[in-house]
Amino acid sequence: MDHIESLESNYIINTYGRKPGYTPALVKGQGSYVWDSSGKKYLDLLGGLAVNIVGHCHPKVTAAIKTQAEMLMHTSNLYYSQPQGELAAMLVESAMPGGKVFFANSGAEANEAAIKLARKRNSERYKIISAKNSFHGRTLASLAATGQPKHQQGFEPLPEGFASAEFNNLNSFAGLVDQQTAAIMIEPVQGEGGVHVAEENFIKGLRELCNEADLLLIFDEVQCGMGRTGKMWAFENYGVTPDLLTVAKGLGGGLPVGAMVAAEPYVEVLQPGSHATTFGGNQVVCSAAQAVLKILREEDFLAQVRQKGYMIRTAMEEIAKQYPQLVKEFRGIGLICALELNRPVAKEILSRCTEEGVLINAIGENILRLLPPLTIVDEELKEGFRIIDRVLKEFM
Ligand SMILES: Cc1ncc(COP(=O)(O)O)c(C=O)c1O
Repeated sequence: MDHIESLESNYIINTYGRKPGYTPALVKGQGSYVWDSSGKKYLDLLGGLAVNIVGHCHPKVTAAIKTQAEMLMHTSNLYYSQPQGELAAMLVESAMPGGKVFFANSGAEANEAAIKLARKRNSERYKIISAKNSFHGRTLASLAATGQPKHQQGFEPLPEGFASAEFNNLNSFAGLVDQQTAAIMIEPVQGEGGVHVAEENFIKGLRELCNEADLLLIFDEVQCGMGRTGKMWAFENYGVTPDLLTVAKGLGGGLPVGAMVAAEPYVEVLQPGSHATTFGGNQVVCSAAQAVLKILREEDFLAQVRQKGYMIRTAMEEIAKQYPQLVKEFRGIGLICALELNRPVAKEILSRCTEEGVLINAIGENILRLLPPLTIVDEELKEGFRIIDRVLKEFM
């Protein structure tokens, strides 16, 4: 461990705040568990920040990676690619029949593609309205779309044409629309902002607003898509389809791949030369993603996610009731959930959970977030609840 820590402090730019003597170095994973360099085992309720949706090293995913890696890892995007085509077909058929896909390497890049498409559709319209408290990524345009000034400070001037409106407040969005507005960009469930679920009327209202004002409706499902809410796509919870959908995180099951799916009327907006990326959707990541999607399509998979989501809600609401001085409320849908605390002790609770062998996430000082693998089983969840309950008791 000393060696790993000294490599980190000597050679890695400290953007993640890892702490010597405290942050584990994870070296192995299987299913819902990971192990650190000392052999200590952790229950992973963070799931690589919503990436390890089918658990760690799922045999079907590792087999797909291995087979493809032994055959062909990468070609330029100048050539046809069967794994890319097959993955695009799976995404389009599942999310937006008639649409088409652009492959990127991350969530921010998928959002960049969506922003660029929205601007290119009509040269008069370039403004994007997103929500306050949203998170869309760290590249400059996705950062400009991110409605959290704390992430933007120090990087000004940001690209112009971005404004943010109140989440779950249709009038606030409508009030910002003008002749130059190109799109509304929204996370149906705000993840980094602390797990806030959009209301049905709000999402339906945004769809109508976009239809009336000829705006593109962009859903950023980088965190809340891919089965996370108990439906394949979060938008299915609302009976509303977006014009552009962005996906990443869980798509590759641990390999970096993002995608922007455009609905049928917009598939011609980007043309050869107008957008590209060297690695986007290479053979290995697309093979992994196909394996992930096949698992999500297995019978009852999503019904089980909903059932496990219900189990978490019941357990966490019970915990919230037990410790009202500490826990303000539970929020979530499916397997994206948060406990908001009344006191700024989220980081201390996270530290204690890590010591006790459970990985969770803290957002700021007051919010604990859980994003377990969708494949987690009931017994593992119960083990997690027991430990979280025990740790919370210490803070009473
Ligand atoms: C909703 C959402 N969009 C975009 C991103 C950015 O994704 P990436 O970190 O892969 O660039 C994130 C990352 O947390 C996210 O949660």
